[in-house]
Amino acid sequence: MSSELDSLFQEFNQSLGTVKTKAETLDLKSKFIGPKGQISLILKSLKDKTAEEKKLIGSKSNEYKVKIESIIGEKLSLLENSEINEKLSKSWIDVTLKDSNLDLGLQAAGYHPTSIVQREIEDIFISMGFDVLDGPHIEDDWHNFAALNVAADHPARDMQDTFWFPDAVHLLRTHTSCIQVRGMEVKKPPFKFVAPGKVFRCERTDASHEMVFHQMDGMMVGEDVSVAHLIYFMKTLLTEVFKRDVEVRLRPGFFPFVEPGFELDIKCLICSAKGCSVCKHSGWVELLPCGMVHPNVLKAGNIDPEKFTGFAFGLGLDRLVMMRYGIDDIRLIHSGDLRFISQFKSF
Ligand code: DAH
Repeated sequence: MSSELDSLFQEFNQSLGTVKTKAETLDLKSKFIGPKGQISLILKSLKDKTAEEKKLIGSKSNEYKVKIESIIGEKLSLLENSEINEKLSKSWIDVTLKDSNLDLGLQAAGYHPTSIVQREIEDIFISMGFDVLDGPHIEDDWHNFAALNVAADHPARDMQDTFWFPDAVHLLRTHTSCIQVRGMEVKKPPFKFVAPGKVFRCERTDASHEMVFHQMDGMMVGEDVSVAHLIYFMKTLLTEVFKRDVEVRLRPGFFPFVEPGFELDIKCLICSAKGCSVCKHSGWVELLPCGMVHPNVLKAGNIDPEKFTGFAFGLGLDRLVMMRYGIDDIRLIHSGDLRFISQFKSF
């Protein structure tokens, strides 16, 4: 039996020379050491043998098993590398090219504060079972407006100054709410997701207005989703973001895609609601527009509003970043100035 093992190992080595692909390598592995492989069968047949034979053959088979395992591993990584090399040799990108002047933003400055906050909030939502969805910057009328219950002649279109393309159908998305429509196209309720990203508006810029800024929309749809769910998730989010218990209040707010719609305010954390310039001396900061998804929006997403309800919200990420780090001019966020960004390197 011992010599049988030796010749099996020899056979393995010979076959290895003829193997050319990863699949063939794996086949060879299972032929010798897979559950029904030849060496495994020898090991299984040991039960009828004497104690001495068991010891001898057992340890020899295990030795070969380990050897074969490691040879197969080497072969697989060799094949993997040659596949990569082959792909690279066909590509026009020279990955070996070095440019000593190349100053990688990350090395020089670290992550952008918006990326830091966005990732942190994504993680909070992921831990609560939400998915994270993405959508295109160039949208069409349907996703940005019509499916969100903003009809062609709806005055709400004037609330957002849109960059239209010459075809008058395509536009730069004015909010991440359009990803709600994209989400409903691919998901069946119950579902919950957040959708972060850049949005664009043709606005005059000042310390608190930019033409490009960041939002994160969220949507949860299910059979008994209510305002209580909305408040619970928003409160948990804000407590996690600000690392302390925050007091919130809901005021009525109007957005065509929610009914009822709310403005969610938090008690000013800068002045503990005593009154300061951030809260405009009211003690409250407007942070989160939200509401219960309008039945027309559910219908546009092929969801039966008789059966399902949902909440949605739109978080202004830049405002949150500014509050978190005490940044007083939104234009700094997009300045691309490494001196600004590098201040966040330690966060
Ligand atoms: N899309 C709105 C805006 O940009 C914000 C918003 C309000 C989003 C209410 C929502 C929502 O999802 O429910 O002004």
